[in-house]
Amino acid sequence: MVEVANALHIASSTTSLLTCLVVLLYMLHPVLDGGSLPRPIGLLGSSSSSTRGERHQHDCLLAVSDGWWQRTDPSVEISWANLPSHIAVRNTKDAFVAYNESLAYQWAWHPHSECHIQRRDRPEVRQVFGNKRLGFIGDSHVRYFHNWVATALGGQEYSKVDSKQPQIKHNKGQHIAPLNVTMAVNMTHLASEIQAYLEEWSEPWPDLLLMDSSVWHLFTNKNISDYTAQMLGLLHTIKSRVPPSTTLVWLSPPPRHAIKAPHYVDLPAEWIRLYNRVAVDLGFTYPAGPAHHLDLYTLALDCLPWCSREGLHVVDTVNELALQILANLLLQIDGWSH
Ligand SMILES: *[C@@H]1O[C@H](CO)[C@@H](O)[C@H](O)[C@H]1NC(C)=O
Ligand SMILES: *[C@@H]1O[C@H](CO)[C@@H](O)[C@H](O)[C@H]1NC(C)=O
Ligand SMILES: *[C@@H]1O[C@H](CO)[C@@H](O)[C@H](O)[C@H]1NC(C)=O
Ligand SMILES: *[C@@H]1O[C@H](CO)[C@@H](O)[C@H](O)[C@H]1NC(C)=O
Repeated sequence: MVEVANALHIASSTTSLLTCLVVLLYMLHPVLDGGSLPRPIGLLGSSSSSTRGERHQHDCLLAVSDGWWQRTDPSVEISWANLPSHIAVRNTKDAFVAYNESLAYQWAWHPHSECHIQRRDRPEVRQVFGNKRLGFIGDSHVRYFHNWVATALGGQEYSKVDSKQPQIKHNKGQHIAPLNVTMAVNMTHLASEIQAYLEEWSEPWPDLLLMDSSVWHLFTNKNISDYTAQMLGLLHTIKSRVPPSTTLVWLSPPPRHAIKAPHYVDLPAEWIRLYNRVAVDLGFTYPAGPAHHLDLYTLALDCLPWCSREGLHVVDTVNELALQILANLLLQIDGWSH
């Protein structure tokens, strides 16, 4: 009996060893392929991000979100002057020095020769959004991003309204006259609420509609089947109601920083990813679905120690990165550039 057990043990060890070898070979594959791009000081990009650059070479819409955080060279002075245009953001405000090392980070795009992706200054950003109607529906992650965009366009922020106020108070509309931009934000928590908003939409459809849901359903329900059912309903409404002239953007909320926000036990950090996955798995996001993905989760995961504001929301460096990604995305879409 002992011998049989030993034999089984050896057999299973051999299997594990073989599995390890196969996994190792698989992980080394891009390197053996000569597939990795040169990375100056990239320490945070995973090996998959180096191959992504090639995979998205011919899809500029996907290429726009294809980049990675890298630590800035400690010998490089932290300044915006002469910043190469493939660097979307550099965190000057949150940068610090520890153990004589610069812990300043920047987010750089992978080179995509045909796509003309680059950091856009404010006049360019304003030109992209000029004469457009922008709609935002979602929770505080959408509110923060709405406010960042509004400020960039010279408009007003939406201040948080006490949650006990009736739903009608959780709206803000404004016209930014110098740019002829109309912005509307409708605060919601759940996908079912977004669906109800879209069902009763009576004004002209906006040129851009940016939405999110997920974390409040996780916070209050913790039932992925129920969330999935809500999202299917929303997807159906989007497909049947929203005209193709409206560019859709789906925002995935960032990871929670458990050290900065330790008390949110009802928002389990390890579930946020699962919830965010539902939109992608159901086919909300391009190329499978109708909405472009502004994935704050992926953008913020690799910089979590400093780019989480208070453990729940992202710092403005990430909002600016999201704005740069959005502006470049819209410039890829026919009918947006003037
Ligand atoms: C930082 O550099 C200074 C000057 O070179 C040196 O005196 C100091 O010991 C260094 N500190 C650490 C933590 O390495
Ligand atoms: C302002 O933008 C709207 C669309 O949002 C457009 O219909 C209108 O013609 C624009 N006005 C001017 C003066 O360009
Ligand atoms: C969304 O907000 C805008 C701006 O305040 C408002 O005009 C619109 O009626 C709101 N939509 C719904 C469905 O409440
Ligand atoms: C989760 O939601 C599904 C679909 O709404 C429902 O059938 C199920 O009973 C819920 N599960 C729990 C544990 O509440």
